[in-house]
Amino acid sequence: MSIKVKNAAEIALMREAGRLLAKVHQDLSHELKEGMTTKEVDRIAEEMIRDLHCVPNFLHYQGYPASVCVSINDEVVHGIPNESRVLTNGDIVSLDMGLIYEGYHSDAARTHGIGEISKEAQLLIERTRESFFQGIQFARAGRHLNDISGAIGDYAESFGYGVVYDLVGHGIGSHLHEEPEIPNFRQRRRGPRLKEGMTLAIEPMINAGCPDVYWMEDGWTVLTDDGSLSAHYENTILITKGDPEILTLTEEEKISM
Ligand code: MF3
Ligand code: CO
Repeated sequence: MSIKVKNAAEIALMREAGRLLAKVHQDLSHELKEGMTTKEVDRIAEEMIRDLHCVPNFLHYQGYPASVCVSINDEVVHGIPNESRVLTNGDIVSLDMGLIYEGYHSDAARTHGIGEISKEAQLLIERTRESFFQGIQFARAGRHLNDISGAIGDYAESFGYGVVYDLVGHGIGSHLHEEPEIPNFRQRRRGPRLKEGMTLAIEPMINAGCPDVYWMEDGWTVLTDDGSLSAHYENTILITKGDPEILTLTEEEKISM
């Protein structure tokens, strides 16, 4: 049981898996509109992934029935696309997806607003994204995993948000989920030491209210206990001696950074 360190050839494939997923995220974000069903979002995403000669890695993962998780408002993660669920003005929608390129996985999530969203919702989306960037300041060789978890959680909690403790990020590579688990809040243990060549999916899931969640009867959809909004932001990253390489940033995001 150990965290895999990827060699140069594997890293090249991870980079490409990340770049292609970022492209799908960017293109899909432009397709989102009011009135669209979540099933339609999934259909478009799957087509985009297959057009790139990649495989959607969520599809059939432990029986998951779609290529994307579409989670709206108080849905935290793993919302199953559905023909009768319609994107509505004011909704916040998290799109979580991944793909396999030449045997290597990428995984990323973004939360988007549909039409005009509340100030509260906008701030939650921005601060969830920022919590990721706070965390990865510590994502470098020689640091410990808990430095990342702690920075994410401390930042989010400073706004009174509830950091979801029942779900975690993960290592990623030739499998979607590898060691280690990556909590989004400070642990009592410093955790494993980070090494150059590790690839991680870091994914803060942050609730505007309390941190507690429950699972819907579908066995997948996770919702906030108190009905408060929840946002999700995830990238696949590569640990280096210096700043981490974020493998799943879109071209548009790189320009606006
Ligand atoms: N990004 C999520 C994760 O890392 C989704 C995987 S679960 C799936 O856990 F079944 F939807 F694929
Ligand atoms: Co993930």
